[in-house]
Amino acid sequence: MELHEAILKRSSVRQYKDEEVPVEHLKELVRMALHAPSVNNYQPWKFIAIRNKSLLQKMALVVTQEIDSLPTNSSIASENIKSQVEWFSTFFENAPALIAIVAEDYETILEKGVKMNHEEVNRMRNYPDIQSIGACIENMLLTAVDLGYGACWLSAPMIAKVPIEALLDIAPPFKLMAFVAVGKPLHDDVPPKPKKDIGDAFVLID
Ligand SMILES: Cc1cc2nc3c(=O)[nH]c(=O)nc-3n(C[C@H](O)[C@H](O)[C@H](O)COP(=O)(O)O)c2cc1C
Repeated sequence: MELHEAILKRSSVRQYKDEEVPVEHLKELVRMALHAPSVNNYQPWKFIAIRNKSLLQKMALVVTQEIDSLPTNSSIASENIKSQVEWFSTFFENAPALIAIVAEDYETILEKGVKMNHEEVNRMRNYPDIQSIGACIENMLLTAVDLGYGACWLSAPMIAKVPIEALLDIAPPFKLMAFVAVGKPLHDDVPPKPKKDIGDAFVLID
């Protein structure tokens, strides 16, 4: 598939056929993620692919518990909002596979030579660790399209970062960054969402 076609065809897919994603395809998503640019080429990432249903359910449960524990405000829609957010945060439990992306801190030359710790340098550089993770996730999403899968990037389950890290045995120096849910789309040809026109997004300074 042409790169342009994959980019234009990609959309977030959240409903899947009950069909296993073979390990070789999961590895291919990760193989392509490994080619993404990263800060200092540090490649801070690791990928944990989860197909175990009962583990996915346990993860969804801790996410639900965290969302339920959020105090609501006085809006009459607050309960509806919570249940909507809950769905977007937990639909992964019905995905044939979920890939957790974890990362370790990258090293900067600067933090070795000036009185700044890693966190300060990272903030000053506008979080290149998170930017790097974004690059590798996009590679995965486009590869998923190429292989005939639908996928969705998730950050909402991070509300339960600590209990999920415990469930997945993620320990320092690694920390959980985000997820990608993947499977064969339940519906054919989910239409891509409308996007900004080039005229609204592009500025040229000659
Ligand atoms: C950083 C990031 C986090 C996201 N987190 C979630 C999420 O937790 N749950 C979800 O259902 N979609 C999530 N999405 C998908 C967006 O909702 C989706 O990309 C957006 O609505 C545009 O739709 P499209 O991907 O079909 O173009 C996330 C996307 C990004 C880039």
